Amino acid sequence: MSLTVALSKGKLLAGSAQLFRKAGLPFPEDEGRRLVVEMDGLRFLFVKDMDVPTYVEYGVADLGISGRDVLLERAYDLYQPLDLGIGKCRMAVAGPKGTVLGDRPRVATKFTRIATEHFAKKGVQAEVIYVGGSVELSPLVGLSDVIVDIVESGKTLEENDLHVLEHICDISSVLVANRAIYKLRYGVIAPLIERLRAALIT
Ligand code: PRP
Repeated sequence: MSLTVALSKGKLLAGSAQLFRKAGLPFPEDEGRRLVVEMDGLRFLFVKDMDVPTYVEYGVADLGISGRDVLLERAYDLYQPLDLGIGKCRMAVAGPKGTVLGDRPRVATKFTRIATEHFAKKGVQAEVIYVGGSVELSPLVGLSDVIVDIVESGKTLEENDLHVLEHICDISSVLVANRAIYKLRYGVIAPLIERLRAALIT
């Protein structure tokens, strides 16, 4: 039986394709809007980036490639055998230059858990407001004082006169595996992981 891998069509796709091909593993070409693609003993499921861990945790997919941001945002019970180093970026608090935060800062973000935990650790009780995207807009129009978001090149912040105020953590992508399936199908999964690991080094 073949292995099923959950992937997102977002920013990690090109890096994942490059890595799989370098490891001599099959990877689909551009398949348009097809959500399931089977090739050479692997079955690929294309899902939203936030959903990759869910498909793997429930055992619908054996493996997946997920950003660490997604894994940090919800508590998944997954095995994480390999950091793939794809899509390197950072999670940060950002806002207008010179922002001084008061006792109860308003923070807009898609990553409400990461933001809440970050401020709680500092003893700050932030008011965390969920925003689904284009989060950089919120401090510009007074929805929030600051944002917690992913910074990759820094261009989005720069073009909106925002600055990194606090570094929260580094982010990259991780190979995740369903814990039970990893043990049951170790003989099939371990060689695939080793090929990916070798491709990372060379
Ligand atoms: C992400 C993130 C930032 C941007 C950072 O947004 O939320 O907005 O990329 O990248 P940069 O530092 O290279 O400018 P994404 O493009 O995923 O869309 P979103 O705003 O809808 O979340």
